[in-house]
Amino acid sequence: MVRRRTSIHGEWSSRWAFVLAATGSAVGLGNIWKFPYITGENGGGAFVLVYLLCIAIIGIPIMMAEVMIGRRGRQSPVNTMYNLGIEAGSTSHWKWLGWLGVVGGFLILSYYSVIAGWALDYIFKTAAGTFTNANAEFVSRTFGHFINSPATLLFWHTVFMLMTMVVVAKGVNGGLEKAVRFLMPSLFVLLVIMVGYAISTGEFMRGLAFLFEPNFDNLLYKHEAGGQFILNTDGEKIFTLEYVLIAMGHAFFTLSLGMGAIMIYGSYLPHNASIAKTSFMIAAADTAVALLAGMAIFPVVFANQLDPGKGPGLIFETLPLAFGNMPGGMFFGTLFFILLVFAAWSSSISLIEPAVAWLVENKNMKRVSASVIMGIACWLVGVLTVLSFNVWKNVHPIDFWVFKNKTFFDVLDYLTANIMLPLGGLAIAIFSVWIMSRSSTSDELDMKENTFAYNLWYFMTRYVTTIAVLVVFANLVGLI
Ligand code: PHE
Repeated sequence: MVRRRTSIHGEWSSRWAFVLAATGSAVGLGNIWKFPYITGENGGGAFVLVYLLCIAIIGIPIMMAEVMIGRRGRQSPVNTMYNLGIEAGSTSHWKWLGWLGVVGGFLILSYYSVIAGWALDYIFKTAAGTFTNANAEFVSRTFGHFINSPATLLFWHTVFMLMTMVVVAKGVNGGLEKAVRFLMPSLFVLLVIMVGYAISTGEFMRGLAFLFEPNFDNLLYKHEAGGQFILNTDGEKIFTLEYVLIAMGHAFFTLSLGMGAIMIYGSYLPHNASIAKTSFMIAAADTAVALLAGMAIFPVVFANQLDPGKGPGLIFETLPLAFGNMPGGMFFGTLFFILLVFAAWSSSISLIEPAVAWLVENKNMKRVSASVIMGIACWLVGVLTVLSFNVWKNVHPIDFWVFKNKTFFDVLDYLTANIMLPLGGLAIAIFSVWIMSRSSTSDELDMKENTFAYNLWYFMTRYVTTIAVLVVFANLVGLI
């Protein structure tokens, strides 16, 4: 058996510290901003069902694999994959998987920071009473106005990127770990209060039906965002697995899987912590937050005759309506956007951590310099996203295949969430069950080799996740 390593970057103080940090990474804009709007664009119920299935049968096994690999390697994903590749008697080329993650995390953070900037701005808008007694038309106009100003978006993007750099420079178990400890539960409670308001709108059941009643036509046939089927020349609906891919990609995105974030957090995990239990807890908390957000938002959408397929502005055009019209709305609204920023903050640091850890390990850089360099580079790429919503809203940089008619922001989002993360996740799955030996995985997972639990993980990772991802990709590239 191979000697167990320790990490040069330090370790979490306990298993709970890891659960909190990983939950902090998982719960973020993905749950509250992205989940509702892509659910709205893709017709609701069936999409949600596939997303939930993906969490259960792909997300959890891959999360276990990723944490396990991280803890075994104890380094940045690039070096971990390099070492474990050699250790398993395979090749050092597995380091490219680490690189895929570094680039993916970097690209995600570039636009993530811009959207987190929207939430920052909305703290002040809500606190100033902008939305008190507002109607849908006003809220929508306010958002339109906001998004049309590159300077404002750029300002908040800069603020958020600075916030991220400060925490990353301090090291992962600095202040944010403590803050997240009570902010996460607060976010949860606040969402429950908002669901309470949603019940009072009179359209709660319609919201629930939208979220949970599957209509597979909406999922399996090409349609415009939020509506109309696209027909072929014979007037028939066109079959596609693209929306299944989006649901699957989102399962990776929301659990922070496939790019090394969870791997590097796993590399700081003490030896005596159960990987299976912690993975379940993280996935459950993450899913609960997303579903609560959906239940808080869609009733408001329907009660105000809004379009669920509005796109990335959805929560910014619906939640202010709720806050403007519920008792204590100014207070709850301000608090909500503050908590959303914290949730985004604890995710953003995990997006850039693999790159920073690599610079520290391989280039002998100080954490501070590494964070500053990565932060600035990422900020620059973020400018593309800032402009995607105004000056360049009609610019389509890669106008073919799945990138057709997409802005820079859309391209970055699609490329990372729907291609890079599933690809990374697939490689992680393959590595953990086809390359690593059963004895090392069962040892690191702390499961006995012939138990039901271990064999279930092994089977799911070896066959179910791999085949599912391959089938969806095959459809994307036109093979099936
Ligand atoms: N999971 C985060 C969210 O839902 C985003 C994220 C993706 C973070 C990948 C790290 C890695 O907001």
